Amino acid sequence: MNIRNQEDEDIKTKMMSVVDDETIDWMQKKSIEFAKLMSYYKCAIMEIETKFNVLNEEYSLEFDRNPINSIRSRLKNPRSIMEKLERRGIPLSMSSLEKDLDDIAGVRVICSFVEDVYTLSEALLKQDDVVLIEKKDYIASPKPNGYRSLHIIAGIPIFLVHEKRMMKVEIQLRTIAMDFWASLEHQLRYKKDTEFTAEMAEELYQCAELSAELDKRMDRLKQETRRIREE
Ligand code: GTP
Ligand code: MG
Repeated sequence: MNIRNQEDEDIKTKMMSVVDDETIDWMQKKSIEFAKLMSYYKCAIMEIETKFNVLNEEYSLEFDRNPINSIRSRLKNPRSIMEKLERRGIPLSMSSLEKDLDDIAGVRVICSFVEDVYTLSEALLKQDDVVLIEKKDYIASPKPNGYRSLHIIAGIPIFLVHEKRMMKVEIQLRTIAMDFWASLEHQLRYKKDTEFTAEMAEELYQCAELSAELDKRMDRLKQETRRIREE
């Protein structure tokens, strides 16, 4: 080891000694607990994804089309979790993480038609292991900026070796058109170096209305094809 490296090592050792053993123990303990909790959320995401894939499969056999265009899932990253806790003034503890945050596990289901959003959400909520915790219908009542989606917070059991655990998952169901709008709105609104003006917000709102009209027309077309088929 040369002199420079030896100095670096000494500095490192000094810095380490600032953090006492108790704190290091606590951090290690929590990081293991945290990783464990995150893996439970990952399992809950897998359960929900499977339920939607099963529904999609059944639908495609029965009606010869797929109501689900795609499924995108995400686990909230630790930094976002900590920031949200801080923002809301929630104490940092494992139990408050589970109790107070609903969106650590997120599943976004992109559907073909508006009707599919409701058919799929009802089919999911009818299942006897799924518990409805909260439902927000931003399709029936869009947000003032034009945002549309159906949000569900659901409780779902995961079966581990020695226990059964209820986990919360935030499920967002929306059409391709709603997803298109939400993705672009997010990109435009959160551009750090650009001011978002009232005119731009109005234009985005008009785009959301246009896109909702497109969804309505597509739903009408689907109903029309169904009527012809049934005749
Ligand atoms: P938070 O969970 O803290 O966000 O508050 P909340 O539970 O009141 O939020 P809500 O259920 O209304 O929305 C939660 C999620 O929906 C967000 O994290 C986004 O993914 C999505 N979302 C809600 N509003 C908008 C919006 O205006 N634009 C876009 N692009 N996404 C939105
Ligand atoms: Mg939320």
